[in-house]
Amino acid sequence: MPWKVTRGAGAWISRLRLSGRAAEANYGSWWNAIASTREGAYALTYVVDDEEDYRTRGWYGDANSFGAKQLLEMGSVGRESRVLEIGCGMARIGREMAPHVREWHGADISKNMLHLARERTEGMDNVFLHELPDVSLGLFADESFDFVYATIVFMHLDKEDLFQYLVEARRVLKPDRFAYFDTWNLLHPDTYRQWRRTQESNIGSHKVRGRIQFATPVELRSYLEDVGFDVLRLDDDKLLRALCRRGPVRSHEPDDGRPPFGYIDVPRNGGTVRGELHVEGWALDDIERIEVFLDGSQRLGEAQLGRPRPDVAEAFPRYSRSASCGFVLDVGGTSPPSGRHTLQVVATDAHGAATDLAGNYRTFVFGT
Ligand SMILES: C[S@@+](CC[C@H](N)C(=O)[O-])C[C@H]1O[C@@H](n2cnc3c(N)ncnc32)[C@H](O)[C@@H]1O
Repeated sequence: MPWKVTRGAGAWISRLRLSGRAAEANYGSWWNAIASTREGAYALTYVVDDEEDYRTRGWYGDANSFGAKQLLEMGSVGRESRVLEIGCGMARIGREMAPHVREWHGADISKNMLHLARERTEGMDNVFLHELPDVSLGLFADESFDFVYATIVFMHLDKEDLFQYLVEARRVLKPDRFAYFDTWNLLHPDTYRQWRRTQESNIGSHKVRGRIQFATPVELRSYLEDVGFDVLRLDDDKLLRALCRRGPVRSHEPDDGRPPFGYIDVPRNGGTVRGELHVEGWALDDIERIEVFLDGSQRLGEAQLGRPRPDVAEAFPRYSRSASCGFVLDVGGTSPPSGRHTLQVVATDAHGAATDLAGNYRTFVFGT
């Protein structure tokens, strides 16, 4: 693809609309139609029809997608490793990664994509390509890979199918080994706008099969932890990028030693605040205090902890305090001046690890 949210997105999305028939297609037939020509496959797995440039992107990645270089490092992958890519497309990454590993396996639901991958990896005897019959990795044995990843694939799947691949990815991964996944972040303002645009063309039964879909950071984390991954890193810019390690399927995890995480329900990102500023949300993982700041520096106060959150308890049952992980702060006194402001909500845990729950882009407008 890679999909430029700001520049190329419109053209890319309109390619995704294709014909009315696309709405009825299954994953395989939809992607086969795309990859029935090399130009079509390039267009949806990249932006231009230029093999040399494509190879560079396969190694270095670009703004929206990691390449083999980063994935080898993130996955602690070496010469003895057996690696699996889910949704490998034309082996953009695999072609560049294969010389650095023992076996690179590319699995994809589109036989046309795999045909192009085969052409691009001809003569590479440690490349193995697999056509997936459905949304499962049933072709592969339990605990048989050292690294499993899927990039620019999950944003084309329904949530149920994304979740199923996570279950399967964990199953085929060896214990304690790494996995990497990404998808678009619904909560980033740019990607949210993009979702609103595609939402209009995907109502009722007229859904484009390969349309772009989105997830929230909390949602993705919840899926990953639910299936038994430890989330080591979750970047939540436009793209949600998750580096995980296969862990045990846990029944209870009150404090895992990693920084806190959570969500701000109020004020709404980009929303308008009138009257007193009220901040409300939830945070998990051994929280000691939550401090709220305005515009990067002005401390507004410390939130009151321990508010009931049965909804969070349901989503994160392994965290012992999830049922009472809500927080609230009513900021009295002088109101901020009218106009746009940023909010920082810093949750600190018992070990001093801190997370700004507001991320980089939580803004609100104060209006009287
Ligand atoms: C945008 S391309 C990305 C290809 C490759 N990961 C890359 O980064 O160049 C998406 C790929 O996902 C594959 N795909 C789509 N739905 C799939 C599914 N349900 N199961 C497996 N692969 C799927 C498509 O056939 C296509 O090759």
